[in-house]
Amino acid sequence: MDEREQVLRSEIIERTRELIRLRKKSERFIPGESVIPYAGRVYDEEEVVSGVSSMLDFWLTLGPEGDAFERELAAFIGVRSSVLVNSGSSANLVAFSALTSHLLGERRIRPGDEVITAAAGFPTTVAPILQNGAVPVFIDIDPVTANCRVEQLEDAFVPGKTKAVMMAHTLGNPFDLTEVKRFCDDKGLWLIEDNCDALGSRYDGKMTGTFGDLSTQSFYPPHHLTMGEGGAVNIVRNAKLKVLVESFRDWGRDCWCPSGKDNTCKKRFDWQLGELPHGYDHKYIYSHVGYNLKPIDPQAAIGRAQLRKVGGFIQARIDNWQRLRSALAPLEKHLEFMLPTHADGWIPGGFTWKTGSPRVEPSWFAFMMLVKPGAPFTRADLARALDAAKIGNRMLFGGNLVRQPAFVQLAKDSSGSAFRVVGGSQGADDVMNRGLFVGVYPGLTFEMLDRIAATITAAAHG
Ligand SMILES: Cc1ncc(COP(=O)(O)O)c(C=O)c1O
Repeated sequence: MDEREQVLRSEIIERTRELIRLRKKSERFIPGESVIPYAGRVYDEEEVVSGVSSMLDFWLTLGPEGDAFERELAAFIGVRSSVLVNSGSSANLVAFSALTSHLLGERRIRPGDEVITAAAGFPTTVAPILQNGAVPVFIDIDPVTANCRVEQLEDAFVPGKTKAVMMAHTLGNPFDLTEVKRFCDDKGLWLIEDNCDALGSRYDGKMTGTFGDLSTQSFYPPHHLTMGEGGAVNIVRNAKLKVLVESFRDWGRDCWCPSGKDNTCKKRFDWQLGELPHGYDHKYIYSHVGYNLKPIDPQAAIGRAQLRKVGGFIQARIDNWQRLRSALAPLEKHLEFMLPTHADGWIPGGFTWKTGSPRVEPSWFAFMMLVKPGAPFTRADLARALDAAKIGNRMLFGGNLVRQPAFVQLAKDSSGSAFRVVGGSQGADDVMNRGLFVGVYPGLTFEMLDRIAATITAAAHG
């Protein structure tokens, strides 16, 4: 970089810092007037400077920032490698598609094979199963943990047909990894952990996203860290899966050269694959029917700046959850609060645990509660009161997914063969009918959290 360019660049960066500091200074919370969102991006000048600096480099495809972010993310989670994609939904699609590869032989997931998943949650945890022609088999959830009822796994299993389990750690609450992992190992099934809402959650001392074969992250702004639109597939142990994940992300190609590089394999014009002539350019050889789901380098630069703060973000989510839980304790008669898997109760600042169970430490995505049957107010009353106070609130994503119009239509179109429901779905219905969540993201101050609690308390007392 020549000297003049260096000077101009420094000026732009310094001005950017000034601008963001100014913006942050003028941000003020006015009780009753300001919106209290359930989630959002939390950033300062560091993220903006990283993004601007990368834009000035103008490396528009994935490049040095992407490589570094993939390495740093994998090290933080404790997996073999991470592959960046442009959303959590893309991460789920790429992760699942990788397991359909012919290169996996007998273990590949084929059209018509079954995949066990949870009845309530986010639709794109399930969509890739259908998009690949496989059959989701829904097991119910426990409405208090919002995670699957592991005792139904055996009922859902069909020898020779069931090939995988794919489910999410709901709202950051790790599902029962002991039982799910044991089941998958016993039956020889793949496990994909949708870790999109659970970055930093721990199960038995280990991060979630490190137990399965593959796991996924979302970096959309409400999540634990953001790169705008973005996500990642984590390859937990098996290096072979990385090649497949990258192939499906990158057009289905056989070549594994990063963008801007050629001939990493040292035999670019010496391959013979499929029915192509010997020596056909490896760059244009496709071993899978793939996609292009890559983000760009400036997004990765922003993600890296966020990752440097992730420890603080996670702690803030935990502290904020506890603040709300303490403030709402007097409402236990009417509200049932989410509990971590394996917990049997809440005590100020922590939980009590079922004897002998592994310790679960959620890195909470949100604070969920269920309105108890017989309470003198409804879930709708609560949602309306929060809305009126400009407090962001949400239901558990798609609720019982098979009640969504898309699934009702699918059942009709396939005469009921597109998916199966095992063991009823009372828990999923319960969460759909009675559940509501508010935010715990690091952008919330204790003043805002206390206002959320006060609004819920006032609504509950009519
Ligand atoms: C559990 C879960 N999986 C996947 C996704 C999809 O992520 P994205 O919005 O980045 O596509 C979400 C979205 O919030 C989610 O909650």
